[in-house]
Amino acid sequence: MAIEQAVIEEIKFRNNIEDVISQYVTLKRAGSNMVGLCPFHSEKSPSFTVFNGEGNFYCFGCGAGGDVITFVRKAENLDYRGALEFLAKRVGITISESSQDKKESMRRERTLEMNKIAARFFHEKLMSDEGREGYEYLTKKRGLSNSHIRHFGLGFAPNSFGALTELLRSKGYKDHEMASAFLCGVSQKTGRPYDYFRNRVIFPILSTSGDVIAFGGRVMDDSKPKYLNSSDTPAFKKSRNLFAMNFAKNYCSEQIILCEGYMDVIALHCAGFMNSVATLGTAITPEHARMLKRYTKKVIISYDSDEAGQNAADKAFKLLGEVGVETKILRMSGAKDPDEYIKKFGSESFRKIVEDSETEFDYKFGKIMRKYNFSVTADKVKALDECEKLIAQTSSAAEREIYLYQVAPKFGIAPDAMKRDVERIISQRRKNAAKDETRKIMTSSEGYGDRVNPDFVKNPKAATAENAIIGLLLMHPEYVRELENKGDPITADEMFTSLGKKIVGAILEIVDKDVTDSSALQGALGEYLELEEVERAAKLRVSRRALTNNTISVVYECRKTLGESKDRAELGIDDIIQKKREQAKNGK
Ligand code: UTP
Ligand code: MN
Repeated sequence: MAIEQAVIEEIKFRNNIEDVISQYVTLKRAGSNMVGLCPFHSEKSPSFTVFNGEGNFYCFGCGAGGDVITFVRKAENLDYRGALEFLAKRVGITISESSQDKKESMRRERTLEMNKIAARFFHEKLMSDEGREGYEYLTKKRGLSNSHIRHFGLGFAPNSFGALTELLRSKGYKDHEMASAFLCGVSQKTGRPYDYFRNRVIFPILSTSGDVIAFGGRVMDDSKPKYLNSSDTPAFKKSRNLFAMNFAKNYCSEQIILCEGYMDVIALHCAGFMNSVATLGTAITPEHARMLKRYTKKVIISYDSDEAGQNAADKAFKLLGEVGVETKILRMSGAKDPDEYIKKFGSESFRKIVEDSETEFDYKFGKIMRKYNFSVTADKVKALDECEKLIAQTSSAAEREIYLYQVAPKFGIAPDAMKRDVERIISQRRKNAAKDETRKIMTSSEGYGDRVNPDFVKNPKAATAENAIIGLLLMHPEYVRELENKGDPITADEMFTSLGKKIVGAILEIVDKDVTDSSALQGALGEYLELEEVERAAKLRVSRRALTNNTISVVYECRKTLGESKDRAELGIDDIIQKKREQAKNGK
């Protein structure tokens, strides 16, 4: 992990926080700071503030805050290391690899090599006598041609426990490497490795740069599980990859068709829809949504028509909406999935339903209308109620107006009558949201339900003193040395909560490396703490900053409070009296 402190500082120095954040948020000047709408929660008036002089940001609405590294971690969903690399690249700095990194990239390299060997092995088996069953399945049952098979590099894993394992061993790969690449499993009984994929047709998964990063394997009958997939390996994260993106990336600047299954994507590519991709045995993740946003303007959700598929679609609408990519959904009838649809009705018909794909509103509206029987009055009322709630979700008033005129006639009522209902729902929702917000603020000020620092409630007084100390040390790292020089060094153990101990422990270690600048200190915290802990530290620093007295004397006072309440928590009253006596005796 370790990147040299000097390099981190250089990266931070060259990445002006205002410039970086401006790429995500429109900032306006407000005094000496810049403000904008927070990218991490939805808000209508700007509470997201960038303190350029200090290299920090803080959102007074949601509490997100930190330095430029923390910002990039959150905005790009990267880990500390990834964020540093991202920023380094942005300003043309190269980070030389530490020995740990070298080990990791070696593991990755070797995983990719093993995958390549495995992919070739599976493909050769499919085309040989041994793979006849797989070949017949793919060609006869699934209608694929040789050129489709070659294009996707499909394969067959023979019904053998050791064929691939032996091959990889003969090429010098160790059992544990094969296991971490998910190419073999290890028998719990004998500890011996065995081929993970057996008697299955194989779908290799390629990265956008063309490496084989994982595999999916399907049974050829109805046995379970239908698919086995590689889990995450040193070279693969399923939450960040999409099947066939390596092909689709060249065809998808306008729109991408997002499917559920490998076979759907293969059928679509074969029918000329080269802009289709699928998630890999998982529901869509926020990382997928961000990735799609980078590649395309519009996503067409093309999930199975069963209930599971439709529920998954709701999630896709939500996540894709959050990253701001236009999203539509395909309405498919007469077939369970795109693969079956194309087989039954042909690619022209599929092209037509892609063209006719619906917006989220139309799709949800249609669902409501189909769900209820309008000749039953009670049902009609329920349908009306659901439609009003749906319209109330739209934030644009003009858009709501359009929907009202579209929907009201279906119920035989005046749009204005419906409008009043919708507005009532909106104002009720606002009130509830405000209530929730107040509740959140109240509980968080008392520390209840504080996920990041669950110990807070155990002794709010001590924890508050601790927070002050952390804020002060972050603002003035030099206090650590001053206390040391006075023969009264601060220690992590003095803190009350385990989070406090962890943060102060990190601060001390960093200061020990001769980091004495507040902003550099904050930047280095990411190496020791989880993202939400870094943010908490940033929050403590910002709240401290707002106060006028931040001298070292405050640290003394807070340490005293901390010591006393800790005593009370740990010792009985008799012990305290005893201790006080001893102190008096020793003349303290
Ligand atoms: P489907 O069951 O819809 O599979 O699951 P499919 O791709 O359409 O396959 P066919 O047409 O039945 O051959 C959709 C996706 O969910 C994952 C796979 O990624 C699959 O492509 N899945 C499904 C699993 O990971 N494991 C399973 O057991 C089933
Ligand atoms: Mn299918």
